[in-house]
Amino acid sequence: MTNKNFYITTPIYYVNGAPHLGHAYTSTAADVLARWNRLEGKDVFFLTGTDEHGQKVEAAARLAGIPPQEFTDRVSADFKDMARVMNISNDDFIRTTEPRHRAAASAIWLKLQENGFIYLGAYEGWYAVRDEAFYDEDETEKKPDGTRIAKSSGAAVEWVVEPSYFFKLSAFQDRLLTLYEEHSGFIAPQAKRNEITSFVKSGLRDLSVSRTSFSWGIPVPGDEKHVMYVWMDALVNYLTACGYPDLTGPRGKFWPASLHLVGKEIIRFHAVYWPAFLMAAGLPLPERVFSHGWWTVEGEKMSKSLGNFIDVRPLVEEFGLDQVRYFLLREVPFGNDGDFSRKALIGRINSDLANGLGNLAQRTLSFIGKNAGAAVPPKGELHEADHVLLALGAELLEKVRGAMSRLAFHEALDEIWRLIRAADGYIDQQAPWSLRKTDTDRMNTVLYVLCSTLRTIGVLLQPFMPVLMDKLLDYLGLGAERGLAILETPLAVGTPLPTPAGLFPRIVET
Ligand code: MSP
Repeated sequence: MTNKNFYITTPIYYVNGAPHLGHAYTSTAADVLARWNRLEGKDVFFLTGTDEHGQKVEAAARLAGIPPQEFTDRVSADFKDMARVMNISNDDFIRTTEPRHRAAASAIWLKLQENGFIYLGAYEGWYAVRDEAFYDEDETEKKPDGTRIAKSSGAAVEWVVEPSYFFKLSAFQDRLLTLYEEHSGFIAPQAKRNEITSFVKSGLRDLSVSRTSFSWGIPVPGDEKHVMYVWMDALVNYLTACGYPDLTGPRGKFWPASLHLVGKEIIRFHAVYWPAFLMAAGLPLPERVFSHGWWTVEGEKMSKSLGNFIDVRPLVEEFGLDQVRYFLLREVPFGNDGDFSRKALIGRINSDLANGLGNLAQRTLSFIGKNAGAAVPPKGELHEADHVLLALGAELLEKVRGAMSRLAFHEALDEIWRLIRAADGYIDQQAPWSLRKTDTDRMNTVLYVLCSTLRTIGVLLQPFMPVLMDKLLDYLGLGAERGLAILETPLAVGTPLPTPAGLFPRIVET
């Protein structure tokens, strides 16, 4: 990534139900990347928001007994609240019921029509309201009770017959395959790229892009009996936020997006339909679509029937914000599925955070407070062990940078923890508490090396644990400049250090 602009998006979340762990996961991962790129000195635009139209949302509003707009206002506010609680640093929050979005969606429709990619016909086929998706018959199966479901998601499908506008998706099969081939990073991880490639190879049918059997949507320009298919409406949000149809404004420079982060169940919409719409409109394509896995909870799929949706907000209350953020990105290799359990969360907090990083920071900083004048200690001549630890620290940035560019968050964290363990070994071996009585110059050098190592760790971990790493960097006496570039300047000897407090309390299991 050499581009100075970095535009990253989360999917916009359906407002048919309350926010849960799955939504918090995508948002937190996107947030870590947004923060990382800001540290890199990039001009970042980070977008999230809510997807508020369609049959599913309309049905949820009806069930709640309130008008859809009032209902979506309420649920969208709840998603905003979740973003606030998770400390998501989005620059904008888009709602598809906003006038700016309606204008953008109508504009793109007209563009596609003008370019000859939209025609009127009639749809007859299967539709799953829960997925807001059309399925071919062979993508569905009949259950023993006679009802039919989509194989991929298990959502009930219904037979729909209605007049509909179509988008000429079939015209894009070759261009999409060329895109995947020539731009091998467009879909990640690799397994998803293969899956999407074979889906497209198997043949694309034109896509129904309007509905007439309900009205909660953006009216089709010029034929208001139809509302736009909710996915066509929703995908355009990424352009709306850049000012589309006018991309000459201040946000216009962010298009095309650097990265759309999505869950695995919606990769098809982002890696097939979306680039086809953009090609049809003559717009540049996003650089990458990355699909991550799904969380189960204590071994079970989160579902309405089990009532086991996890709201992250009480978890943050109980275990701490940065602790929960850390867990989400450390526990599961990004791209894979994973299981959430209280036991695993507590295990990570206690072993990696309280006993690992927290203990290292506290041992070093409180020792300096008590025995080394509460200031960054002077550095004397370096010994072999110092060079080894400092070199590990110096190599870390490139390793973490590499992992972050592959969205391998767990690897980035693993590399950082390698340094934490090395620093732990170093402190035990150098034993500054003994040097205090025999050689204070050497003690100061050891403490200096530890402070420098902690600074590397603290700076690199900021995107993951912004609040607590800010504290750690305060304890290390850093000024306002905390970007990656700071790692190239030596620590300022003599900087007074505040009294540190423990960063990560141990969780006692009850
Ligand atoms: N509204 C569409 C997206 C439109 S984007 C133009 C949608 N919304 S959603 O509310 O269903 O949320 C989708 C996102 O939530 C998924 O991409 C996925 O990231 C996340 N998750 C929902 N449940 C999840 C898990 N159980 N585990 C991990 N993430 C999952 O689809």
